Amino acid sequence: MSSTLPNTSFLSISKSEKYTIVHQQLLGLLNGETDPIANLGNAMAVLKQVFSWWWVGLYRVDGEELCLGPFQGPVACTRIAYGRGVCGSAWKQAQTLIVPNVHEFPGHIACSAESQSEIVVPIFKNEQVIAVLDVDSEHLDQFDAEDARELELFCASLVPYL
Ligand code: SME
Repeated sequence: MSSTLPNTSFLSISKSEKYTIVHQQLLGLLNGETDPIANLGNAMAVLKQVFSWWWVGLYRVDGEELCLGPFQGPVACTRIAYGRGVCGSAWKQAQTLIVPNVHEFPGHIACSAESQSEIVVPIFKNEQVIAVLDVDSEHLDQFDAEDARELELFCASLVPYL
């Protein structure tokens, strides 16, 4: 298993190059390890380390709520109801939501005052949403269709551990 990230300044490379590194690293981390906590924790760490986003984490479906899972960043809300906030809305709509300015999203749940933009990616198993990946940035308008596509791909690899 290759768990060491290359000694690169991630500031100087393009977003698509960052995703290439992220996918390679995830593959290396998951290879030969089956423990869900180890794998999900490291998966969140890879995203945080390569992109330096403000907050990166998983919420898992638990009945009518999402419950906080492995994450990297400041303390966050533990439970989010179905249809509430960006996370609960992405779950309800069963689609990736990109929010360029969280202050303009009705019902946005501010776990941190620093968060300015957000992307939430639902994760499916047998066509049901079983979790969401939530990424927050302290800058406005940080996420686009490339992030949606790449993070959906990233999330698909996490299904066996959720
Ligand atoms: N902002 C999210 C809540 C989770 S925190 O950002 C980590 C939402 O509106 O669902």
